[in-house]
Amino acid sequence: MILVLMGVAGCGKSTIAEQLAQRLGWDFAEGDALHSAASIAKMVGGHPLDDADRLPWLHRVAEWIDGEIAFGRSGVVTCSALKRSYRDILRRDEVRFVYLAVDRDVLAARIAARRGHFMGTTLLDSQLDTLELPGPDELGFTVDATGPPAGIIDGIISELGSA
Ligand SMILES: Nc1ncnc2c1ncn2[C@@H]1O[C@H](COP(=O)(O)OP(=O)(O)OP(=O)(O)O)[C@@H](O)[C@H]1O
Ligand SMILES: [Mg+2]
Repeated sequence: MILVLMGVAGCGKSTIAEQLAQRLGWDFAEGDALHSAASIAKMVGGHPLDDADRLPWLHRVAEWIDGEIAFGRSGVVTCSALKRSYRDILRRDEVRFVYLAVDRDVLAARIAARRGHFMGTTLLDSQLDTLELPGPDELGFTVDATGPPAGIIDGIISELGSA
């Protein structure tokens, strides 16, 4: 099984995915590490990425997923996967989308407190505008990602039984 931890900036994708993969003993990939240097420069400058920036990135995330599946491995990967069309690029029978739900005020507070990261508060509203919530026909589930990470991770692991 491959878990794609998705949602807008600050929802905790990187934090939760890394600890979740450790708990499960699964592989972990940071989707943001697969962005091009040009896309990172764009985000640092406060400019949202457009589809032309995101498509090659999504295909790199999909390549990682396909590698895991080809080797029969399970893994956790972070990817905002904001639009259904983006998730279509990642969708496989083995993939479950885990949407980390967090209110805007909490997201803004987390982003404002964070240092050394290329995603600033200016891009949060653009991400919230872009977000298309996963539909009931999409394999996966939503977790409330407001509380402490340990509880969020427990919640995800307990969902996996029925995922
Ligand atoms: N459950 C949580 N409770 C409190 N703080 C959290 C929680 N999850 C993440 N954080 C903090 O919020 C900030 C954003 O988390 P993180 O970087 O994991 O989000 P992200 O979804 O990966 O964001 P981005 O899309 O910008 O990469 C970090 O400073 C992190 O320490
Ligand atoms: Mg991240």
